[in-house]
This record gives sequence, C-alpha cells and structure tokens, in this order.
Amino acid sequence: MTRDRGDLDLNLRSEPQLREYRSIYERIVRDRPSRLLDWGCGHGHASDALQRAGVDVVALEYVPDAPEGARSALPYFPNVEAVTTREPVKLPFPDECFDAVLSLGVLEHVPDPEGSVAEIRRVLRPGGRFYVYKLPNRSSYLEKIARLAGLSYHGEREHDTLWTVRSAREALERNGFSVEAARRANMLPLTLAGPVAERLAPLIWRLNGVLERIPGLNVVATNVEAVARRYDPQPPLAGQRNIAPPPSVARRVGAALRPLGLDEGLGKLYDKAPSRQELRDPGTYRQAAALWSDLRAGGWTMLGSRRARALNRLARAAERAGVQGALVDCGTFNGGSAIMMSTGAPNREVWAFDSFEGLPEASSDHDPERAGEWTGELKASEEKVREGFRRFADPARLNVVKGWFQDTFPEAASKILSVAVLHADSDWYDSVRLTLETFYPKVSRGGFVVIDDYNDWEGAKTATDEYRAAHGIDAPLREIDITAVYWQKPR
Ligand SMILES: C[S@@+](CC[C@H](N)C(=O)[O-])C[C@H]1O[C@@H](n2cnc3c(N)ncnc32)[C@H](O)[C@@H]1O
Repeated sequence: MTRDRGDLDLNLRSEPQLREYRSIYERIVRDRPSRLLDWGCGHGHASDALQRAGVDVVALEYVPDAPEGARSALPYFPNVEAVTTREPVKLPFPDECFDAVLSLGVLEHVPDPEGSVAEIRRVLRPGGRFYVYKLPNRSSYLEKIARLAGLSYHGEREHDTLWTVRSAREALERNGFSVEAARRANMLPLTLAGPVAERLAPLIWRLNGVLERIPGLNVVATNVEAVARRYDPQPPLAGQRNIAPPPSVARRVGAALRPLGLDEGLGKLYDKAPSRQELRDPGTYRQAAALWSDLRAGGWTMLGSRRARALNRLARAAERAGVQGALVDCGTFNGGSAIMMSTGAPNREVWAFDSFEGLPEASSDHDPERAGEWTGELKASEEKVREGFRRFADPARLNVVKGWFQDTFPEAASKILSVAVLHADSDWYDSVRLTLETFYPKVSRGGFVVIDDYNDWEGAKTATDEYRAAHGIDAPLREIDITAVYWQKPR
C-alpha cells in the first residue's frame, strides 16, 4: 500500500533539507557506482532517488524483530524493495559485492561504529566508496540548543555517537579506508516545513553553503561528512609498472663512489650542475640557482640546489601549460621550498604547511628506528617564512598554516579547490600518506607531485608506493636527484 507523503517524516517534507539530500544524490551519481548499498535505508528516499538515476541499489534496514532477509516494498517509496536484517553489525552480503555504500544518518546510531565500518569495508570492492553523511558534529550549536530546549538531539539515545572531522577520519583510516574528503557541513536548521520554508529554501540553502565554509565559525556546524575509499595496501609491488624508477646513472655512480669517500664532493658538483632540461634554458637555470644560493645561505631552506630548482621548474611548467591550482608545500620548514615554487608561478596562491615545532614522532612501523632521533628536530619559524616571501616572492599570495597536518589539513583543504604542484616534504610515513590522501585528489590533470624523501626515508617511499598502487596511479616516477622524485598527473 502506498502511503500519502503528507504524513511523512518532517525531513522529507522540508524543502531546505530536501535540497541537501538532492546534493548528496547528485554527488554519488557523479561517481557512477553500479551497485550501491543504502545502509539503513529508512523510508527509502535515497534508494528511490538513486534507483531513478540508474544506480542498482540494495536497500537494507535493521529491524531486530523481523525475520532475517525478509523483503518488502517500502510504504512511501513502493518501488524500493528493502531487505531486513536482525544483525546490528554483520551485513548479510558476501565480500566485495558493492561499488559503494551510503550511510545517511546511520553510522551515528549503531552500537559498534568501528565494527560497522570494518564490515562495510568487507562488502565493498577494493577502491569502492563509502559515503558518510549527517554524522552529528560534537560541537554543533544547534544540537546544544535542541538539548536545552528539550527537543530531540543526538546523544540522547543509547548508542548515539558524536563526531569530529578528526574522529571520523581516524575511524575510517583505522578500518582500512583512505579518506578522499572530510568536512563540517550545515550551519542552519534545514528541517523546516511549511510554505514559508519552501519559499525561503533557496536562500537558506545558499546561506548555509556560505556559512559552512567559514573556518572558525564552522566549528559549530551541525554535521560531519566524509567520502572514503576502500584501501588495500599492495605489498608485492613488483610487477607493477613504474612503482619505483630504476636507479639513475647519478645514483649508481654515487653508490659506487661511496666506499671510496668520493661521493660527497662529486655529489655537490652534481647537485649544482644543470639538469638536461635546464641546459635548454640556461637563463632560467642561472636565476633559480642564484635564488637557491640566497635561500640556503639565509637559512630559508635545507634543500639542495637541484631539488629546489626542480620545484621552480615544475611550477613554471604548470604555469606555462595553464594547469589550474595552487602551490601546496607540506613541510615548508622556513619556506624555501614554497618560495622556489612561488617564483616559478608568481600569480598562484601558495599554501605552506608546517608545525614549526619540528618533526613529529615517527609513529608508524614503516619508518626506520633511527627516525626517532629526529623527533622535534628541524624547528622553523612562521615569521621567517613570511620574511622570505617579503624578500623574494609575493607575500600577498601566501597562506601559512601552522600546526600538525592532521589538525590543519581538513579545514585548509576545504579552501583549496585545486592544486598545480604538491610538494610532500615531511619525511615520515604518516605525514606523507596524509599529504597524498588529502591533496592528491585535488591535483589538477597535468599537475605535479614531488616526494622529497622518496629515496631517503623508507616511510615516505612506502606511503607513496602504497598510495599510488591503491589508486592505480602508474604515471612514471621521475628522479629529481638521488633522493627526490616527482610524477605528473595524467591529463
Ligand atoms: C625536511 S623539513 C622541510 C624542508 C623544507 N621544505 C625546505 O625547503 O627546506 C620537514 C618539515 O616538515 C614539518 N613536518 C613534518 N611532519 C609534519 C606534520 N605531521 N605536521 C606538520 N609539520 C610537519 C617539520 O616541522 C619540518 O619543518
């Protein structure tokens, strides 16, 4: 029997709320999943909309006292046939049978959220997406008002959990997901029914979109949302094309000379000598080399000349080819690397990230034991970065973001629409992995990714190889010098 939607849940009669739902459906449809699990489908509005958009949807509802596996058409959306389960965590599906799973107002109500995330990963195919919407933000001002006013709020029911962008990201990562995007969403009440709300819906929705992007203010947003992909580390990297470049002549010569103690002097010569590409444009080479000399002498960079010049050259190349996006420097130290990029593409926004407290603890098994000796080393200064930009580049384009990557990336990433050159120079596995997870999806086609420590620190290499393998990136890795590599995102 089809029910009249007039008595439907307020959420589904409220025009501002419906706008959010529509934007979620559109987001999912853009990814073209062929088979999606609508986990905790409720009345079935998402299943209905996605089905209409051509997605093969399996709608699942948890009903503790219904027979396991019962199927029935949903009263308000009778073209959706939902399956019921009595299991609060376990999903009644085989491994790897979905392209996508949607949690729209579900994960925050389950008794074992981590168990559920792991179970969702199990039923997703490798690389499949988990869309998580409507998690209640722990600091939501609207939830606090609702609580004070005696209205219903998240946290009142036995299993309710409250979230932050960080806790959502960590729960996903702990359970084998790579997070593509995570943010705070919604600042205004959206569940408003009636003709006035209907008339004001476009305005409310637009204003909501503006407010939720204001850093600082959005700390008190209503929701947290994330899109993550099933992540499968691929240990046997052999056989995959271009995971690591074969050692270049310079690396082989360096290795041969090391036992004779000749590698250092010759290494310095090699570092300063022009690369093959630079020989084609000696004027630019001379300029970049001179800038590096000043930056190095003044303590702005610890990079060698070749690596610093490569950053300048790649920024120029992105500029020349009209590749969209900002220059993003993760591990900027005193700003030398950011300055080298910025002078190559002077009209670009520059984002320079650093704790300015030195290196964090190397917390992962992938980093060698000696990494521990570096904790707290390489302390730098935000003011020195700014001074460097005043002297050598354009300070108006500079955004310095101080703090640990895990704390600063989520908010900053919401402001960086696209990236032309991404420089990962933070040494340890966790930092490099987070850099790639946060910013690689934003790198424009034709843009560049530089991994400074690839052939120096094991963790940086593993994080890069794993990320590339998990995302099927086989663009060739090119050596900059004996340590740093880069690749270009295919056009
Ligand atoms: C090798 S230095 C960078 C050198 C710099 N790019 C240059 O031009 O000289 C690494 C920097 O990364 C920063 N860093 C590493 N991991 C970090 C993290 N997780 N959060 C914030 N900063 C980090 C350190 O504070 C340090 O300044």
